[in-house]
Amino acid sequence: MNEKYKSLFEHFTFKSGVNIKNRLFMAPMTNFSSDDKGMVTDEELAYYKVRSGGVGAVITAVAYVTPGGKGFINEISAASDQMIPSLKQLANTIKGEGAKAILQIFHAGRMAPPDLLPDNQPTSASAVAPLRPGAVVPRELSAQEIESIIEDFAEATRRAIEAGFDGVEIHGANTYLIQQFFSPHSNRRSDQWGGTLDKRMKFPIAVIDAVKKSVAKHANKPFIVGYRLSPEEAENPGITMEDTLVFADKLSQQGLDYLHISVQDFWQGSIRDDDDKQSRILKIHERIGNRIPIIGVGSLYSAEDVKSAKATGVPLIALGRELIVDPKWVQKLEEGNEHKIDTTLTKNDQERLVVPDQLWQAIINRPGWFPVVEK
Ligand SMILES: Cc1cc2nc3c(=O)[nH]c(=O)nc-3n(C[C@H](O)[C@H](O)[C@H](O)COP(=O)(O)O)c2cc1C
Repeated sequence: MNEKYKSLFEHFTFKSGVNIKNRLFMAPMTNFSSDDKGMVTDEELAYYKVRSGGVGAVITAVAYVTPGGKGFINEISAASDQMIPSLKQLANTIKGEGAKAILQIFHAGRMAPPDLLPDNQPTSASAVAPLRPGAVVPRELSAQEIESIIEDFAEATRRAIEAGFDGVEIHGANTYLIQQFFSPHSNRRSDQWGGTLDKRMKFPIAVIDAVKKSVAKHANKPFIVGYRLSPEEAENPGITMEDTLVFADKLSQQGLDYLHISVQDFWQGSIRDDDDKQSRILKIHERIGNRIPIIGVGSLYSAEDVKSAKATGVPLIALGRELIVDPKWVQKLEEGNEHKIDTTLTKNDQERLVVPDQLWQAIINRPGWFPVVEK
């Protein structure tokens, strides 16, 4: 055991009763490598296998709960019972290396590329296009469709349970459907699902409720239910920090196991107000204290980066790109070899790092996203 970083290797027991062996998670990362039907592939399993040996839990790439909510090419599907064997392979691969396995689930809403959808028509809370070049106007969901999507989340949870996962993370972040209901930019409804801040929280809360009921009905051992959110949106109108703090209060009353704050940088201040430089994660942590454990994330490349983040009192830390750059990040730290942790990669490292083709192309073709260096 590495004494200097001991606090990262303490066990943690969630409200549900699930115990994880340390405070480090693999952050959810889409890898574009399932097959056309959404079944996991061998290269995807190999990628997870080399990254599941150190962390306490792996949160998988996001899986869609219904074909109308598919958000990425070659994304994992949790949308039908035929996917259970594929999901089981994924859960077994992760658990086989000693980590708990958490399936992230979502509906992409207006962010879905039309050509991935059965009817080529993205849907959302309201018929408002996202602010990005070429975006199409989504169709507003009917009240009945909303109920049906809530049920899709419950069914995806049942499939995760049957496949042997230890939990699900409800993806309420990164501008997808759940966030679209919370956002005053994408939600202009005047029925029970929109209008006031209270009503904008209704869809996320209904999804959590349905997921929790599914767990109560189907799980025969403790099962984690986490929730991921993005603290702010740049749009006007858009989600403000004031909205999010009220929402965090509400989320802390839902019996969730954790709240995962999605940001690119743990220390990042407001994206709406240049004068507000306080870390979004710490602002939420300050508000909710110990009412619900928080997972912090974002550009924590070195052991010292993670140690400083953990020293703020945030109990759990997720590593995303860091685990792509160095699959043995956690083991190196645990063994006292933190100076050997790689924080950069080169264009020749795909095979060594066991990264699926499509993800690798995305990494090397998007300058600035990953710390790619010439060697
Ligand atoms: C390749 C890649 C794919 C991602 N896919 C997802 C995803 O499926 N779901 C999600 O919530 N966040 C996703 N993210 C965001 C990460 O979970 C994380 O919040 C972000 O990368 C910042 O953390 P990091 O600096 O440790 O990578 C993705 C990030 C990367 C780099």
